[in-house]
Amino acid sequence: MKVLITGGAGFIGSNIVHYWLDNYPKDIVINLDALKYSGNLDNLRDIEKSPKYKFYHSDISRYDEIEPIFKQGVDVVVNFAAQTHVDRSLYEPNEFINSNIIGTRNLLEACLKYQVKRFHQISTDEVFGDLAINDKHKFTAETLLNPSNEYAASKASAEMFIMAYLHTHHLPATISNCTNNIGPYQYPEKFVPLAITNILEGKKVPVYGTGKNIRDWIYVIDHCRAIDVILKKGKPGERYLIGSDHREINNIQLLSKIIKVMDIPGDWMEFVTDRPGHDRKYAVDWTKIGKLGWKPKYSLDQSIRLTVEWYMKNTRWWKKIKSGEYRKAYEKIYGKNY
Ligand code: TYD
Repeated sequence: MKVLITGGAGFIGSNIVHYWLDNYPKDIVINLDALKYSGNLDNLRDIEKSPKYKFYHSDISRYDEIEPIFKQGVDVVVNFAAQTHVDRSLYEPNEFINSNIIGTRNLLEACLKYQVKRFHQISTDEVFGDLAINDKHKFTAETLLNPSNEYAASKASAEMFIMAYLHTHHLPATISNCTNNIGPYQYPEKFVPLAITNILEGKKVPVYGTGKNIRDWIYVIDHCRAIDVILKKGKPGERYLIGSDHREINNIQLLSKIIKVMDIPGDWMEFVTDRPGHDRKYAVDWTKIGKLGWKPKYSLDQSIRLTVEWYMKNTRWWKKIKSGEYRKAYEKIYGKNY
């Protein structure tokens, strides 16, 4: 089988490229990535020479760049390519519109034209808006889309296009909405890698607002396992929510756990001005994918420990990013300013 992973040089994308090559050695994995600021080929150094792996430096927002890849024949497309950072979406919304909406629509068009057997969209629980802190409800596959920031709005729009292609063209598409991921290769602008790397650099960790916002955290490998299950057993036209098995946890509690695992003495938390429109709480009911035989394997403590260990071991990886060096390297190679 030929699997096209878009955004395979990003955080979750590079994890699934590794996961797929490890678990399905007979398959061909094609990685299409625009190498924008968070796409990083360092995430794939260990497999880049594999005969089962092929990389294309292409942007999904450019149909002319993606069509030649589809022409070669692709069985399954999993779309990870997206701008994902809420804070950035507040001041660079056009980037989000181009990658997340126009990019997805281009992929849908190519999937239709080249009769791809399955298109799977990696969406987010953020498309449902937020819950009140004390709300006992969780998001389900029936929850209406109700995005509350530009990032979430762009992902919700992409979902609308998928629904249209499902209805009008019967494109065999599935969608998954996963909660916050942690693990290796996450760009250090996100809360968990930012916290770990800041502490390793002796810097404080900015905690937005009260620090009481609640997220549902999942280890990235559990997310990859869930995608695998959806591709095998999921039904076209369906949406699957992916979440963890943990108790609800707020940002202060999460950061306290990280600090405890790191065991570096210091006063690391610094409360800063809140993010505008900061979503209060996400919580996901994953009963539906549970019925396909999936459940998360990693506890929160295990997920944190594995993530902390990875960042402590791979200081070169994140120091290069934090110093901006790797972006300069791409400018040299590709002559573009990322
Ligand atoms: P983030 O990793 O940006 O993911 P998302 O906003 O998509 O959930 O943020 C996770 C939580 O951490 C969120 O409630 C915002 C908060 N946060 C901070 O308190 N400080 C930070 O520096 C960042 C990046 C996030």
